[in-house]
Amino acid sequence: MATGSGRSPGRPVLWNGYANMASLRPVVIERGEGVSVFDTAGRRYLDAIASLWYANIGHGRAELADAAAAQMRKLAAYQTFEPFSNPPAEELARRVADIAPVEDARVFLTPGGGSDAVDTAGKLARAYWRAMGQPGKQVIVSRSHAYHGVNAYGTSLGGIPANVEPYGPLVSQVEHVPWDDASALEKIIEQVGAERVAAFFCEPVIGAGGVYPPPEGYLDQVRDICRRNDVLFVADEVITGFGRLGAWFGSGRFALDPDMITGAKGLTSGYAPLGAVIVAARVADPFWRDGSTEVFRHGYTYSGHPTACAVGLANLDIVEREGLIGRVAELEPVLAEKIRPLSAHSLVGQVRAGTGLLAAVEIAEDARAADPGIGPRLVTEIRERGVITRLLRGVALQISPPFTISVTEIEQIAGTFAAAFDAVAGG
Ligand SMILES: Cc1ncc(COP(=O)(O)O)c(C=O)c1O
Repeated sequence: MATGSGRSPGRPVLWNGYANMASLRPVVIERGEGVSVFDTAGRRYLDAIASLWYANIGHGRAELADAAAAQMRKLAAYQTFEPFSNPPAEELARRVADIAPVEDARVFLTPGGGSDAVDTAGKLARAYWRAMGQPGKQVIVSRSHAYHGVNAYGTSLGGIPANVEPYGPLVSQVEHVPWDDASALEKIIEQVGAERVAAFFCEPVIGAGGVYPPPEGYLDQVRDICRRNDVLFVADEVITGFGRLGAWFGSGRFALDPDMITGAKGLTSGYAPLGAVIVAARVADPFWRDGSTEVFRHGYTYSGHPTACAVGLANLDIVEREGLIGRVAELEPVLAEKIRPLSAHSLVGQVRAGTGLLAAVEIAEDARAADPGIGPRLVTEIRERGVITRLLRGVALQISPPFTISVTEIEQIAGTFAAAFDAVAGG
């Protein structure tokens, strides 16, 4: 069968995520150093997004390579099903439990990153209620604009329609509410019946949906609604966890007392894929209490992978030793101050910043309506000026640099964005 996609010499075969392969021109990154990455032509880019929100300690840290190599020489991998574990997995789980704003936490390690953590938390929420003698509590509620990854639970819970619609129903009994309306959560619980609702998934600051800090009072209200209705509160901190909000976790910054936290990215700064579900003792209890016969029948081949865990430990060492979380807190107002002037530009609708080292510059709605290609063009204009950003939900440009960024480099991001917006406005 003849098609227009036959392989031609030199055409890549790597199928990229979230990419239109018909028009893709690969940008091949081969090296990283600090806040910079370099492509195969030797061009340097300031990585304003820390890859996908994760290179918190910056690129090219030999210490993590050494930790991985040392662990690989000793024991590269071994399973953690049933009775098995390994020292790095034990140590990392304890360390994560100690820094988590969750009393007496237990930690379930996941291999693939945030999507695995989200699916683990979704399954655990349902298994928990079943173990508690309430198997009818199955419904999971999430929010518009939410991003919870690409596995079955995460896809179904997602609040970005374009990411959900192609796949039909994956996980049943999922409800969505508007991202900023606590009363909508209360209403849906009332409608469905609290006896049927298992959990509410909530990013403390919505990330991939466009960087939306929580409206004043929103998190306190939804936390309280969950508590009153016996609905588990799951904080999805895949982006916000491990320091990006100037605290170890958003759950700590906003005093959420979550039942579970999902985390990944900043756990290893991306040097190895690894995620975690931090589980409050009250949720672990039916599985852990003396005499229980309950088994959480879930686990990945690479859960607790010793090399990934050794990398995670070395990453947390750097975050602590270099005081990087304090640095995020210091840089939070600086980033906001430097990029806010962009809101005066005719092509900018809104600048969202001021909660952690995290921001978005939303393209004005009328500009997007008049020219649907404007977002991708801005991303390219910015990259051609030496800064990497990306488009979130088709509407906003992401800024989430490594924690090691300097004030001058933040100014470079702001200046480059301004120049690109001017260039696009000038036609
Ligand atoms: C809040 C949130 N949850 C889950 C995920 C999925 O994580 P991963 O892409 O590592 O599977 C992401 C990824 O960006 C995320 O931002």
